[in-house]
Amino acid sequence: MKKLVLLVLILMFAAICAGCGNTQAQATPTPAAETVINDETPLLTQEQDPVNAPDAEKSELEENSSTVLVVYFSATGTTRGVAEKIAALTDADLVEIIPAQPYTAEDLNYNDRTTRATVEQNTPDVRPEIANDISLDGYTMVYLGYPIWWGQAPRIMSTFVESHDFTGITVIPFCTSGSSDIGQSDDTLAEQAGSGNWLQGRRFDANVSDDTLLSWINETGGATMDKTLTLVIGDTEVSVVWEENASVEALAEMVKTEPLTVQLSMYGGFEQVGPLGTSLPRDDVQTMTQAGDIVLYSGNQIVVFYGSNSWAYTRLGRITDKTADEMKALLGNGDVTITLAWK
Ligand SMILES: Cc1cc2nc3c(=O)[nH]c(=O)nc-3n(C[C@H](O)[C@H](O)[C@H](O)COP(=O)(O)O)c2cc1C
Repeated sequence: MKKLVLLVLILMFAAICAGCGNTQAQATPTPAAETVINDETPLLTQEQDPVNAPDAEKSELEENSSTVLVVYFSATGTTRGVAEKIAALTDADLVEIIPAQPYTAEDLNYNDRTTRATVEQNTPDVRPEIANDISLDGYTMVYLGYPIWWGQAPRIMSTFVESHDFTGITVIPFCTSGSSDIGQSDDTLAEQAGSGNWLQGRRFDANVSDDTLLSWINETGGATMDKTLTLVIGDTEVSVVWEENASVEALAEMVKTEPLTVQLSMYGGFEQVGPLGTSLPRDDVQTMTQAGDIVLYSGNQIVVFYGSNSWAYTRLGRITDKTADEMKALLGNGDVTITLAWK
C-alpha cells in the first residue's frame, strides 16, 4: 500500500516536472513549478559550508539554554526559512544538518534521473554523511525539518535519525515541498529512529504565516502558550496590562519573530513618543491619559505617558507596577529607548 502511495506521489511529481521542463511551451509557470528549485535559487549558503559556518549557531547550541531544538536539513533554503520561524516562535535552539558533501545545483536537478539526489532517493540504503556533530542532550522536544524529495525525506535525514537517540524526546517532523504532502516520510523516519515519541508531521509552504505556525506549535505542545507582549523602558522591564484590541494584536504579531526597539522623544512635559515604523489598526477616541498609559497616536507612533494629556488615541495598555512619580523618574529625564518583545 505504502509503495502504491509512493508510486502515485512520484508519478504526480514527475507530471509536475514534465511541465517545469518545457518552459518554452508553457509561458506561465505553474505554482508547483515556482516553488520547486530553479537555477536562480541559491543552493549553497554560508551555513551549509562546514568550514565557514557562522560561530553564532555553534555557540547557541553550546549554551543549550532551551529544552526545545529545531533541527533541519535544507538544500535550497526553503526549509531553513520555516525552521527559523519555528525556532523564533518557540524560543528554541536552531541547528542545521550540514552534508559532508554539499549538494550542488546539478546534484539537485531532478529532471535528470542520473543526478545525485535522485539516485540517492532511488537507493534506500544510502546514508549521506553529515559534517557537523549535533547533540540532543538536554532537549525534550525536537522539531525536525526537511524538504520532500521524490515523496520522501532526503536520505541524509535517515543518517541523522539513525545516529541519534531520541529516548525521552518528543519529535515533531515538518517539511516543505513543491506541492506534495508529508506522506509517509514522517512514519519512515520514526521507524528508522527506533526511539522517541514521534508526533504526526506537517507540510508547510515557504511563506507560511506566523499564525499558522503558532496554532500548529500549540497543537504540538510547543512552548508558546505562556508568552506575552513585554515592554522594557531603557533597562527597566515594566508590567503591562495590554488592551484586547486589533492594535495590540498587530503589535504582538510584529514582535513575535523579532523584538522591536523604538527610540522615544520627550514631548510636552507629559509623554515620550516614537515611531513604530509601520501603521497598526486604529480606533481613536478622545482620551484623557494618565501616567503609565500606553497609546497609539496617529496609527503609527507609540506614546508612553508620565503625565496627563487629552487627545484622540487608541489605547494599547497600562503600566501597572509603577507609581506616577516612578513613571516621571523613568521618562521625565531625557529621551529613552523602549523594546517590545514576545517572551
Ligand atoms: C531531488 C528533488 C526531488 C523533489 N521531489 C519533490 C516531490 O516529490 N514533491 C514535491 O512536491 N517537491 C519535490 N521537490 C521540491 C522540494 O521539496 C521543494 O523545493 C522544497 O521546498 C525544497 O526545500 P529546501 O529549499 O529546504 O531544500 C524535490 C526537489 C528535489 C531537489
